[in-house]
Amino acid sequence: MQCNGNITIMAKKQMLLTLLVLGLFRRYDALWCNCTTAQCQKTGSQCETDGACMASTSFIDGQEQHIRICITRDKLVPPGQPFYCLSAEGLLNTHCCYTNYCNSLDLKVPSVTLRPGLGGGFGPDGTWGPVELVAVVAGPVCLLCVLLIMAVFLFQYHQRAYSHRQRLEVEDPSCDHLYMAKDKTLQDLIYDMSTSGSGSGLPLFVQRTVARTIVLQEIIGKGRFGEVWRGRWRGGDVAVKIFSSREERSWFREAEIYQTVMLRHENILGFIAADNKDNGTWTQLWLVSDYHEYGSLFDYLNRYSVTIEGMIKLALSAASGLAHLHMEILGTQGKPGIAHRDLKSKNILVKKNSTCAIADLGLAVRHESTTDTIDIAPNQRVGTKRYMAPEVLDESINMRHFDSFKCADIYALGLVYWEITRRCNAGGIHEEYQLPYYDLVPSDPSIEEMRKVVCDQKLRPNVPNWWQSYEALRVMGKIMRECWYANGAARLTALRIKKTLSQLSVQEDIKV
Ligand SMILES: Nc1ncnc2c1ncn2[C@@H]1O[C@H](COP(=O)(O)OP(=O)(O)OP(=O)(O)O)[C@@H](O)[C@H]1O
Ligand SMILES: [Mg+2]
Repeated sequence: MQCNGNITIMAKKQMLLTLLVLGLFRRYDALWCNCTTAQCQKTGSQCETDGACMASTSFIDGQEQHIRICITRDKLVPPGQPFYCLSAEGLLNTHCCYTNYCNSLDLKVPSVTLRPGLGGGFGPDGTWGPVELVAVVAGPVCLLCVLLIMAVFLFQYHQRAYSHRQRLEVEDPSCDHLYMAKDKTLQDLIYDMSTSGSGSGLPLFVQRTVARTIVLQEIIGKGRFGEVWRGRWRGGDVAVKIFSSREERSWFREAEIYQTVMLRHENILGFIAADNKDNGTWTQLWLVSDYHEYGSLFDYLNRYSVTIEGMIKLALSAASGLAHLHMEILGTQGKPGIAHRDLKSKNILVKKNSTCAIADLGLAVRHESTTDTIDIAPNQRVGTKRYMAPEVLDESINMRHFDSFKCADIYALGLVYWEITRRCNAGGIHEEYQLPYYDLVPSDPSIEEMRKVVCDQKLRPNVPNWWQSYEALRVMGKIMRECWYANGAARLTALRIKKTLSQLSVQEDIKV
């Protein structure tokens, strides 16, 4: 109990102490402010408060009035933004603060032009005025717009320049009237070009314009590199060889060879245009040439037998084409010697007048006589195995020597002559069409099979004895044999063959 009584006394003492301390703190909470009211005159222009000090400047009847007062805590409502502390634009500038005599500052009521938010600068509480906000927001937006407009302008300018360049490339309007007049046929265009141009083909923009206005009609053949179509252009037929994208190199090479200066010849397939059209997914590679409705010599001989006159015309025209291809023409408008390397009856077309046009120049090589070099690195064995010369089959061909390739062409020409001559109807006799070596090798012979027959056994297609009975057949037989010598250098030249057949045509009274 004694003990309990002591505890009660101690607790009372502690409570008293706490109250005392709290009372002291209450005194420290009191805030002293400057004061301008009449009442404060007595207390030395100061007042004491538990709330805030306030300074306020107002415009009343055109006069600035400054007030400094104490605000009691209970008047500081609503908390955070007490009514007593609010300013009114153009009339009143009020500032509440919470440290001793903090309201001693001299506030200004900004004139209307200098009102915060209208004249610039921050508001009294450091916030942005509407003008600043507009400036801050609109400034970058305007700058962005200007940049955007400039970018659009630059892009459009670039696009216009690009499409202009494209137009120049595709259909140079300054030249359109020269080349592309509506009434001009392909023959006219090509004639214009061969008389006024470089002799190497239509200008590229005309080639493109022609190629892109062709309407494909029907597929007429399929080869190793793609499909051949008949197309229509301005009421005339054209042949379109469409290469697969994989064969871009072959397409490029063939187009390149066809555009060799001065290559054009009546017995070489007339090249019209090359075009690579990108349709977004793949590139279409087109090679446009004259269309010959008889198709290839292979097709023609399969379908028809020929008269002696027909045989000589085919043989002489083929020799003329090959002689032109092989021949080097010197001078600025000259042409290099070209070897075909894939001569065969499928790569020779038959024209309406039953003469030949040599086609498929994709494997050809050109001779650069000044340096005595060949324009591409020739690979050893290209072409069609059945028509490969013995030196190609056994790889003994001297590839540094351009004439080797011409000699290999002559061997193949001899085989083509054999195919033609078999179909010659003399005295009511003619043979069925056959491919060379049809009786010695299978249908798709390997190089090894060909080499055995041609190099090892030294066999050649059969020249029947009865051909000796007809001068034309006899001459053809002789030419063939002289095309087939194992030694390439011993073979006839295309020019020699052409001359011999020209004489024969005169003898036979044939008009060519
Ligand atoms: N300009 C053309 N006019 C008419 N027909 C053509 C023309 N060019 C090609 N052909 C036809 O299309 C066929 C296919 O020709 P392509 O050159 O693609 O293959 P190929 O000569 O038969 O075989 P390869 O791929 O071995 O050369 C030819 O055999 C021929 O019948
Ligand atoms: Mg071909």
